[in-house]
Amino acid sequence: MSAPTTVKIIGAGSIGNHLAHGCRQQGWAVSMCDRDPAALERTRNDIYPSRYGNWDTQIELAAPEALANRGYDLVIIGTPPDTHVRLALDELRGTTPKLLLIEKPLATPDLRGLDELRTLARETGTRILVAYNHRLTRHTELARQWLEAPGVGEVSTLRVLFREHWGGIFGAHPWLSGPADTYLGFTHRGGGALGEHSHGVNLWQYFARLAGMGRIQEVSAELDEVERDGAAYDRIAQLSVRTDKGLLGTIVQDVVTRPAQKWLRLEGDQGYLEWQAGARPDQDWVQLVRHEGPGREEWISKTRPDDFRGEIEHLGALLQDATLPSPLDLEAGLETMRVIAAAIESSRSGRRVRIDQDAPTPEY
Ligand SMILES: NC(=O)c1ccc[n+]([C@@H]2O[C@H](COP(=O)([O-])OP(=O)(O)OC[C@H]3O[C@@H](n4cnc5c(N)ncnc54)[C@H](O)[C@@H]3O)[C@@H](O)[C@H]2O)c1
Repeated sequence: MSAPTTVKIIGAGSIGNHLAHGCRQQGWAVSMCDRDPAALERTRNDIYPSRYGNWDTQIELAAPEALANRGYDLVIIGTPPDTHVRLALDELRGTTPKLLLIEKPLATPDLRGLDELRTLARETGTRILVAYNHRLTRHTELARQWLEAPGVGEVSTLRVLFREHWGGIFGAHPWLSGPADTYLGFTHRGGGALGEHSHGVNLWQYFARLAGMGRIQEVSAELDEVERDGAAYDRIAQLSVRTDKGLLGTIVQDVVTRPAQKWLRLEGDQGYLEWQAGARPDQDWVQLVRHEGPGREEWISKTRPDDFRGEIEHLGALLQDATLPSPLDLEAGLETMRVIAAAIESSRSGRRVRIDQDAPTPEY
Protein backbone atom coordinates (compact mmCIF):
# COMPACT_ATOMS: atom_id res chain seq x y z
CA MET A 1 0.00 0.00 0.00
CA SER A 2 1.41 3.41 -0.91
CA ALA A 3 1.94 6.10 1.75
CA PRO A 4 -0.94 8.58 2.08
CA THR A 5 -0.68 12.03 0.57
CA THR A 6 0.66 14.45 3.17
CA VAL A 7 -0.84 17.92 3.56
CA LYS A 8 0.13 20.91 5.66
CA ILE A 9 -2.48 23.64 6.11
CA ILE A 10 -1.18 26.98 7.37
CA GLY A 11 -3.98 28.92 9.06
CA ALA A 12 -6.55 27.10 11.23
CA GLY A 13 -9.37 29.54 10.53
CA SER A 14 -12.55 29.26 8.52
CA ILE A 15 -11.04 28.16 5.19
CA GLY A 16 -8.35 26.06 6.89
CA ASN A 17 -11.10 23.96 8.45
CA HIS A 18 -13.06 23.58 5.20
CA LEU A 19 -9.98 22.40 3.34
CA ALA A 20 -8.81 20.15 6.18
CA HIS A 21 -12.17 18.42 6.06
CA GLY A 22 -12.03 18.14 2.27
CA CYS A 23 -8.52 16.63 2.41
CA ARG A 24 -9.55 14.14 5.10
CA GLN A 25 -12.46 13.02 2.88
CA GLN A 26 -9.76 11.98 0.40
CA GLY A 27 -7.96 9.99 3.13
CA TRP A 28 -4.97 12.34 3.17
CA ALA A 29 -2.77 12.85 6.25
CA VAL A 30 -3.42 16.40 7.42
CA SER A 31 -1.35 18.66 9.70
CA MET A 32 -2.70 22.13 10.52
CA CYS A 33 -0.71 24.96 12.03
CA ASP A 34 -1.52 28.46 13.20
CA ARG A 35 0.51 31.12 14.89
CA ASP A 36 -2.37 31.72 17.28
CA PRO A 37 -2.82 28.87 19.80
CA ALA A 38 -6.43 30.00 20.35
CA ALA A 39 -7.16 29.23 16.67
CA LEU A 40 -5.93 25.65 17.13
CA GLU A 41 -8.13 25.27 20.20
CA ARG A 42 -11.12 26.71 18.32
CA THR A 43 -10.53 24.29 15.47
CA ARG A 44 -10.57 21.24 17.74
CA ASN A 45 -13.36 22.30 20.09
CA ASP A 46 -15.61 24.44 17.99
CA ILE A 47 -15.26 25.02 14.22
CA TYR A 48 -14.55 21.48 13.02
CA PRO A 49 -17.02 19.59 15.29
CA SER A 50 -19.81 22.14 14.74
CA ARG A 51 -19.44 21.97 10.95
CA TYR A 52 -18.69 18.29 10.40
CA GLY A 53 -20.18 16.51 13.43
CA ASN A 54 -17.08 15.70 15.45
CA TRP A 55 -13.38 16.43 15.72
CA ASP A 56 -11.16 14.21 13.57
CA THR A 57 -8.40 12.98 15.87
CA GLN A 58 -6.27 12.00 12.86
CA ILE A 59 -5.63 15.69 12.16
CA GLU A 60 -2.41 16.96 13.71
CA LEU A 61 -2.56 20.46 15.22
CA ALA A 62 0.73 22.26 15.80
CA ALA A 63 2.56 25.57 15.99
CA PRO A 64 4.13 26.57 12.62
CA GLU A 65 7.70 26.05 13.90
CA ALA A 66 6.95 22.43 14.80
CA LEU A 67 6.21 21.59 11.15
CA ALA A 68 8.80 23.84 9.51
CA ASN A 69 11.37 21.21 8.53
CA ARG A 70 9.01 18.48 7.37
CA GLY A 71 8.34 17.82 3.69
CA TYR A 72 4.75 17.64 2.39
CA ASP A 73 3.15 16.69 -0.91
CA LEU A 74 0.74 19.61 -0.64
CA VAL A 75 0.93 22.84 1.35
CA ILE A 76 -2.17 25.04 1.64
CA ILE A 77 -1.89 28.67 2.72
CA GLY A 78 -5.21 29.63 4.36
CA THR A 79 -4.16 32.81 6.16
CA PRO A 80 -5.10 36.47 5.48
CA PRO A 81 -4.07 37.81 2.05
CA ASP A 82 -1.35 40.12 3.40
CA THR A 83 0.56 37.07 4.66
CA HIS A 84 0.19 34.85 1.55
CA VAL A 85 3.26 35.80 -0.47
CA ARG A 86 5.65 35.89 2.49
CA LEU A 87 4.49 32.45 3.66
CA ALA A 88 4.64 31.05 0.12
CA LEU A 89 8.22 32.31 -0.35
CA ASP A 90 9.19 30.69 2.96
CA GLU A 91 7.74 27.36 1.82
CA LEU A 92 9.58 27.52 -1.50
CA ARG A 93 12.86 28.30 0.26
CA GLY A 94 12.32 25.45 2.73
CA THR A 95 11.26 21.87 2.06
CA THR A 96 9.53 22.53 -1.25
CA PRO A 97 6.18 20.77 -1.68
CA LYS A 98 4.96 19.32 -5.00
CA LEU A 99 1.89 21.54 -4.88
CA LEU A 100 1.30 24.83 -3.12
CA LEU A 101 -2.29 26.10 -2.96
CA ILE A 102 -2.63 29.75 -1.92
CA GLU A 103 -6.03 31.11 -0.89
CA LYS A 104 -7.58 33.98 -2.81
CA PRO A 105 -6.81 36.78 -3.26
CA LEU A 106 -3.22 35.81 -4.04
CA ALA A 107 -1.65 38.95 -2.58
CA THR A 108 -2.17 42.57 -1.62
CA PRO A 109 -3.06 45.13 -4.32
CA ASP A 110 0.49 46.57 -4.28
CA LEU A 111 1.44 43.23 -5.91
CA ARG A 112 4.48 43.01 -3.64
CA GLY A 113 6.65 39.93 -4.00
CA LEU A 114 4.82 38.38 -6.96
CA ASP A 115 7.81 38.40 -9.31
CA GLU A 116 9.90 36.64 -6.69
CA LEU A 117 7.15 34.09 -6.24
CA ARG A 118 6.96 33.43 -9.96
CA THR A 119 10.75 33.08 -10.25
CA LEU A 120 11.07 30.80 -7.26
CA ALA A 121 8.19 28.62 -8.49
CA ARG A 122 10.06 28.13 -11.77
CA GLU A 123 13.35 27.38 -10.00
CA THR A 124 11.96 24.91 -7.48
CA GLY A 125 9.44 23.22 -9.79
CA THR A 126 6.66 23.55 -7.19
CA ARG A 127 3.30 23.92 -8.89
CA ILE A 128 1.52 26.96 -7.43
CA LEU A 129 -2.25 27.30 -7.56
CA VAL A 130 -4.62 30.00 -6.34
CA ALA A 131 -7.79 28.75 -4.66
CA TYR A 132 -10.54 30.18 -6.86
CA ASN A 133 -12.76 27.19 -6.13
CA HIS A 134 -15.77 28.50 -8.11
CA ARG A 135 -13.89 27.54 -11.28
CA LEU A 136 -14.21 23.89 -10.29
CA THR A 137 -17.76 23.53 -8.99
CA ARG A 138 -20.09 21.15 -10.80
CA HIS A 139 -22.20 23.87 -12.45
CA THR A 140 -19.10 25.71 -13.70
CA GLU A 141 -17.86 22.46 -15.17
CA LEU A 142 -21.21 21.95 -16.95
CA ALA A 143 -21.01 25.51 -18.28
CA ARG A 144 -17.52 24.80 -19.61
CA GLN A 145 -18.75 21.70 -21.44
CA TRP A 146 -21.85 23.40 -22.88
CA LEU A 147 -19.78 26.30 -24.17
CA GLU A 148 -17.70 23.85 -26.21
CA ALA A 149 -20.92 22.61 -27.83
CA PRO A 150 -23.50 23.83 -28.62
CA GLY A 151 -22.18 27.20 -27.36
CA VAL A 152 -23.70 30.67 -27.69
CA GLY A 153 -22.36 31.71 -31.10
CA GLU A 154 -20.37 34.90 -31.47
CA VAL A 155 -19.85 36.37 -28.01
CA SER A 156 -20.92 39.99 -27.50
CA THR A 157 -20.59 40.68 -23.77
CA LEU A 158 -20.00 39.10 -20.37
CA ARG A 159 -21.42 40.32 -17.07
CA VAL A 160 -20.61 39.13 -13.57
CA LEU A 161 -22.16 40.07 -10.24
CA PHE A 162 -20.50 38.85 -7.07
CA ARG A 163 -22.38 40.70 -4.38
CA GLU A 164 -22.68 39.45 -0.84
CA HIS A 165 -23.21 41.24 2.43
CA TRP A 166 -20.34 40.26 4.67
CA GLY A 167 -22.62 39.56 7.63
CA GLY A 168 -22.34 35.89 6.59
CA ILE A 169 -18.56 36.01 6.82
CA PHE A 170 -18.71 37.57 10.27
CA GLY A 171 -21.30 34.94 11.21
CA ALA A 172 -18.64 32.31 10.40
CA HIS A 173 -16.12 34.22 12.55
CA PRO A 174 -17.97 34.93 15.82
CA TRP A 175 -14.62 35.70 17.47
CA LEU A 176 -14.27 38.85 15.32
CA SER A 177 -16.14 41.98 16.35
CA GLY A 178 -16.16 43.69 12.94
CA PRO A 179 -14.26 44.63 9.75
CA ALA A 180 -11.51 46.56 11.55
CA ASP A 181 -10.52 43.38 13.43
CA THR A 182 -9.26 41.70 10.28
CA TYR A 183 -7.92 42.20 6.75
CA LEU A 184 -11.55 42.27 5.54
CA GLY A 185 -11.88 45.90 6.59
CA PHE A 186 -8.85 47.08 4.61
CA THR A 187 -8.61 47.22 0.82
CA HIS A 188 -4.83 47.62 0.96
CA ARG A 189 -4.54 44.35 2.91
CA GLY A 190 -6.53 42.39 0.34
CA GLY A 191 -9.96 42.88 1.90
CA GLY A 192 -12.92 45.06 0.94
CA ALA A 193 -15.27 44.06 -1.87
CA LEU A 194 -12.51 43.90 -4.47
CA GLY A 195 -10.29 41.50 -2.56
CA GLU A 196 -12.79 39.46 -0.59
CA HIS A 197 -15.13 38.91 -3.53
CA SER A 198 -12.42 38.67 -6.20
CA HIS A 199 -14.11 35.45 -7.31
CA GLY A 200 -16.12 37.91 -9.48
CA VAL A 201 -13.11 39.21 -11.43
CA ASN A 202 -11.67 35.72 -11.56
CA LEU A 203 -14.86 34.16 -12.96
CA TRP A 204 -15.10 36.90 -15.60
CA GLN A 205 -11.57 36.06 -16.67
CA TYR A 206 -12.31 32.34 -16.73
CA PHE A 207 -15.44 32.62 -18.87
CA ALA A 208 -13.75 35.12 -21.21
CA ARG A 209 -11.01 32.54 -21.68
CA LEU A 210 -13.50 29.69 -22.20
CA ALA A 211 -15.19 31.83 -24.85
CA GLY A 212 -11.83 32.40 -26.56
CA MET A 213 -12.05 36.15 -25.85
CA GLY A 214 -8.60 36.75 -24.35
CA ARG A 215 -7.31 38.50 -21.23
CA ILE A 216 -8.39 41.75 -19.57
CA GLN A 217 -6.30 44.60 -20.90
CA GLU A 218 -8.21 47.74 -19.81
CA VAL A 219 -10.11 48.62 -16.66
CA SER A 220 -12.35 51.58 -15.79
CA ALA A 221 -13.61 51.34 -12.25
CA GLU A 222 -15.50 53.15 -9.59
CA LEU A 223 -15.16 52.08 -5.98
CA ASP A 224 -17.29 53.21 -3.07
CA GLU A 225 -14.50 53.59 -0.50
CA VAL A 226 -15.47 54.18 3.11
CA GLU A 227 -13.59 54.84 6.32
CA ARG A 228 -15.53 53.80 9.36
CA ASP A 229 -14.96 52.37 12.83
CA GLY A 230 -11.23 52.11 12.27
CA ALA A 231 -11.56 50.30 8.92
CA ALA A 232 -10.91 51.60 5.36
CA TYR A 233 -12.38 49.53 2.56
CA ASP A 234 -14.28 49.51 -0.72
CA ARG A 235 -17.91 48.53 -0.09
CA ILE A 236 -18.80 48.41 -3.76
CA ALA A 237 -16.54 47.89 -6.78
CA GLN A 238 -17.96 48.48 -10.29
CA LEU A 239 -15.64 47.61 -13.14
CA SER A 240 -15.95 47.99 -16.87
CA VAL A 241 -13.32 45.81 -18.55
CA ARG A 242 -12.11 45.10 -22.08
CA THR A 243 -9.93 42.20 -23.24
CA ASP A 244 -7.08 42.17 -25.74
CA LYS A 245 -9.58 40.54 -28.14
CA GLY A 246 -12.06 43.39 -27.75
CA LEU A 247 -14.64 41.81 -25.44
CA LEU A 248 -16.31 44.49 -23.32
CA GLY A 249 -18.07 43.57 -20.09
CA THR A 250 -18.84 44.45 -16.50
CA ILE A 251 -18.03 43.11 -13.05
CA VAL A 252 -19.71 44.26 -9.85
CA GLN A 253 -18.61 43.08 -6.42
CA ASP A 254 -19.90 44.35 -3.09
CA VAL A 255 -20.17 43.56 0.60
CA VAL A 256 -23.69 45.01 1.01
CA THR A 257 -26.15 42.89 -1.01
CA ARG A 258 -28.37 40.63 1.06
CA PRO A 259 -29.26 37.93 0.13
CA ALA A 260 -26.18 37.34 -1.96
CA GLN A 261 -26.21 37.50 -5.75
CA LYS A 262 -23.45 35.52 -7.48
CA TRP A 263 -24.43 35.58 -11.12
CA LEU A 264 -22.87 35.50 -14.54
CA ARG A 265 -24.20 35.85 -18.08
CA LEU A 266 -22.30 35.31 -21.30
CA GLU A 267 -24.21 36.78 -24.23
CA GLY A 268 -23.83 35.49 -27.78
CA ASP A 269 -25.64 35.98 -31.10
CA GLN A 270 -27.16 32.48 -30.96
CA GLY A 271 -28.05 32.44 -27.26
CA TYR A 272 -26.65 32.97 -23.81
CA LEU A 273 -25.23 31.12 -20.84
CA GLU A 274 -26.41 32.06 -17.37
CA TRP A 275 -24.79 30.81 -14.15
CA GLN A 276 -25.64 31.37 -10.53
CA ALA A 277 -24.06 30.12 -7.31
CA GLY A 278 -26.55 29.63 -4.48
CA ALA A 279 -29.47 30.53 -6.77
CA ARG A 280 -31.70 28.84 -4.19
CA PRO A 281 -30.55 27.96 -0.70
CA ASP A 282 -28.16 25.04 -1.20
CA GLN A 283 -28.53 24.94 -4.98
CA ASP A 284 -26.38 26.14 -7.85
CA TRP A 285 -27.92 26.70 -11.26
CA VAL A 286 -26.78 26.93 -14.84
CA GLN A 287 -28.66 27.26 -18.12
CA LEU A 288 -27.78 27.56 -21.77
CA VAL A 289 -30.49 29.23 -23.81
CA ARG A 290 -30.41 28.87 -27.59
CA HIS A 291 -32.56 31.38 -29.52
CA GLU A 292 -33.28 28.63 -32.09
CA GLY A 293 -33.58 25.09 -30.75
CA PRO A 294 -33.36 23.39 -27.39
CA GLY A 295 -31.19 24.59 -24.55
CA ARG A 296 -29.97 23.02 -21.31
CA GLU A 297 -30.65 23.71 -17.65
CA GLU A 298 -29.51 22.10 -14.40
CA TRP A 299 -30.09 22.69 -10.72
CA ILE A 300 -27.37 21.18 -8.57
CA SER A 301 -27.97 20.51 -4.89
CA LYS A 302 -24.95 21.18 -2.77
CA THR A 303 -23.68 21.48 0.76
CA ARG A 304 -20.93 23.88 1.85
CA PRO A 305 -18.28 21.10 1.60
CA ASP A 306 -19.36 20.64 -2.05
CA ASP A 307 -18.08 24.16 -2.78
CA PHE A 308 -14.56 22.79 -2.27
CA ARG A 309 -15.01 19.23 -3.54
CA GLY A 310 -14.05 19.95 -7.16
CA GLU A 311 -11.01 21.90 -6.02
CA ILE A 312 -9.81 19.10 -3.70
CA GLU A 313 -10.38 16.40 -6.33
CA HIS A 314 -8.43 18.52 -8.78
CA LEU A 315 -5.51 18.73 -6.30
CA GLY A 316 -5.60 14.94 -6.06
CA ALA A 317 -5.43 14.62 -9.85
CA LEU A 318 -2.48 17.03 -10.00
CA LEU A 319 -0.64 15.09 -7.30
CA GLN A 320 -0.96 12.02 -9.54
CA ASP A 321 0.05 13.88 -12.69
CA ALA A 322 1.75 17.24 -12.21
CA THR A 323 1.63 17.99 -15.95
CA LEU A 324 -2.19 18.27 -16.10
CA PRO A 325 -3.50 21.73 -17.03
CA SER A 326 -5.18 23.67 -14.23
CA PRO A 327 -7.68 26.56 -14.18
CA LEU A 328 -6.18 27.50 -10.80
CA ASP A 329 -2.62 28.05 -12.02
CA LEU A 330 -0.57 30.89 -10.53
CA GLU A 331 -0.77 32.91 -13.75
CA ALA A 332 -4.58 33.09 -13.51
CA GLY A 333 -4.38 34.27 -9.89
CA LEU A 334 -1.78 36.86 -10.92
CA GLU A 335 -4.04 38.18 -13.66
CA THR A 336 -6.81 38.67 -11.13
CA MET A 337 -4.44 40.61 -8.85
CA ARG A 338 -3.46 42.90 -11.70
CA VAL A 339 -7.11 43.68 -12.40
CA ILE A 340 -7.68 44.45 -8.69
CA ALA A 341 -4.67 46.80 -8.67
CA ALA A 342 -5.81 48.46 -11.90
CA ALA A 343 -9.35 48.95 -10.54
CA ILE A 344 -8.05 50.79 -7.48
CA GLU A 345 -5.79 52.96 -9.63
CA SER A 346 -8.62 53.70 -12.08
CA SER A 347 -11.10 54.67 -9.38
CA ARG A 348 -8.66 56.89 -7.52
CA SER A 349 -7.30 58.60 -10.64
CA GLY A 350 -10.59 58.82 -12.50
CA ARG A 351 -8.91 57.33 -15.58
CA ARG A 352 -9.05 54.15 -17.61
CA VAL A 353 -6.03 51.94 -16.76
CA ARG A 354 -4.19 49.63 -19.16
CA ILE A 355 -2.79 46.46 -17.67
CA ASP A 356 0.73 45.35 -18.42
CA GLN A 357 0.68 41.67 -17.44
CA ASP A 358 4.49 41.58 -17.53
CA ALA A 359 5.24 44.70 -15.47
CA PRO A 360 7.68 43.99 -12.58
CA THR A 361 6.25 44.01 -9.05
CA PRO A 362 7.96 45.41 -5.90
CA GLU A 363 10.29 43.02 -4.11
CA TYR A 364 9.84 41.79 -0.58
N1 LIG B 1 -12.26 30.22 -1.45
C1 LIG B 1 -13.18 30.54 -0.56
O1 LIG B 1 -14.36 30.37 -0.77
C2 LIG B 1 -12.73 31.16 0.75
C3 LIG B 1 -13.58 31.11 1.86
C4 LIG B 1 -13.12 31.69 3.06
C5 LIG B 1 -11.88 32.29 3.11
N2 LIG B 1 -11.09 32.32 2.00
C6 LIG B 1 -9.76 32.98 2.04
O2 LIG B 1 -8.94 32.31 2.99
C7 LIG B 1 -8.09 33.23 3.64
C8 LIG B 1 -8.29 33.15 5.15
O3 LIG B 1 -9.63 33.48 5.46
P1 LIG B 1 -10.33 32.90 6.75
O4 LIG B 1 -11.73 33.34 6.67
O5 LIG B 1 -10.06 31.45 6.91
O6 LIG B 1 -9.55 33.73 7.89
P2 LIG B 1 -9.50 33.39 9.45
O7 LIG B 1 -9.22 34.68 10.13
O8 LIG B 1 -10.68 32.59 9.86
O9 LIG B 1 -8.22 32.43 9.61
C9 LIG B 1 -6.92 32.81 9.28
C10 LIG B 1 -5.97 32.17 10.29
O10 LIG B 1 -4.63 32.39 9.85
C11 LIG B 1 -3.83 32.54 11.01
N3 LIG B 1 -2.56 33.18 10.64
C12 LIG B 1 -2.37 34.48 10.28
N4 LIG B 1 -1.07 34.68 9.98
C13 LIG B 1 -0.44 33.48 10.13
C14 LIG B 1 0.90 33.06 9.96
N5 LIG B 1 1.85 33.91 9.57
N6 LIG B 1 1.20 31.76 10.20
C15 LIG B 1 0.25 30.90 10.62
N7 LIG B 1 -1.04 31.26 10.81
C16 LIG B 1 -1.39 32.54 10.57
C17 LIG B 1 -4.70 33.35 11.94
O11 LIG B 1 -4.26 33.22 13.30
C18 LIG B 1 -6.07 32.75 11.70
O12 LIG B 1 -6.37 31.72 12.62
C19 LIG B 1 -8.40 34.61 3.04
O13 LIG B 1 -7.48 34.87 2.01
C20 LIG B 1 -9.81 34.42 2.50
O14 LIG B 1 -10.11 35.28 1.41
C21 LIG B 1 -11.48 31.75 0.84
